[in-house]
Amino acid sequence: MNTEILNLEEFKKVAKDFMLGLFPLANQATVVGLYGDLGAGKTTFVQAIAKALGVSEIVNSPTFLIFKTYQLKANSYNFERERSEQSKTDHFDRATQLYETKCSYKLLVHIDAYRLKSSDELRKLRFEELLADPENLILIEWADKVADLLPKDHTKLHFTFIDDSARQIRL
Ligand SMILES: Nc1ncnc2c1ncn2[C@@H]1O[C@H](COP(=O)(O)OP(=O)(O)OP(=O)(O)O)[C@@H](O)[C@H]1O
Ligand SMILES: [Mg+2]
Repeated sequence: MNTEILNLEEFKKVAKDFMLGLFPLANQATVVGLYGDLGAGKTTFVQAIAKALGVSEIVNSPTFLIFKTYQLKANSYNFERERSEQSKTDHFDRATQLYETKCSYKLLVHIDAYRLKSSDELRKLRFEELLADPENLILIEWADKVADLLPKDHTKLHFTFIDDSARQIRL
């Protein structure tokens, strides 16, 4: 994904499409690192994903809490997929397959590592347990602060502030 300059509405749509392309791994949580400056859109991206996953709570930046978890309704993920405009692509076959095996994320984990001085602080919050569970989708702002705790090959998204109403996202 190397997107154009996006307005807010386009930005949220890109977030949703990105989520629809993510699938649980077999042996560990799915980790997405969100990189970029203050105000670049990391929390906004998480909010759009949470909404698409059926989270009805307000998703705020967990800067002071370090992380927050959101229980996902059974199969809301797959339900969203079926309704998606992309449902005619091969996403759909995979979604159907996952639906049949009842495989979907059960927990959304939103981490903001901004205030952490070292990755040890996150380790103390039992991050490794969250990481070990394939039913978890972990989205982490300021992921560079805890790089040594994250799987080397995790998906990395880079956000760039363009102007008041525009942002760019790079995979
Ligand atoms: N095109 C756009 N895409 C995304 N966000 C936009 C856009 N235009 C304006 N915004 C606004 O920019 C702000 C982005 O803030 P956000 O909290 O998502 O940034 P952040 O990267 O999480 O920052 P922080 O590092 O402080 O956590 C939001 O208020 C959002 O509404
Ligand atoms: Mg944020």
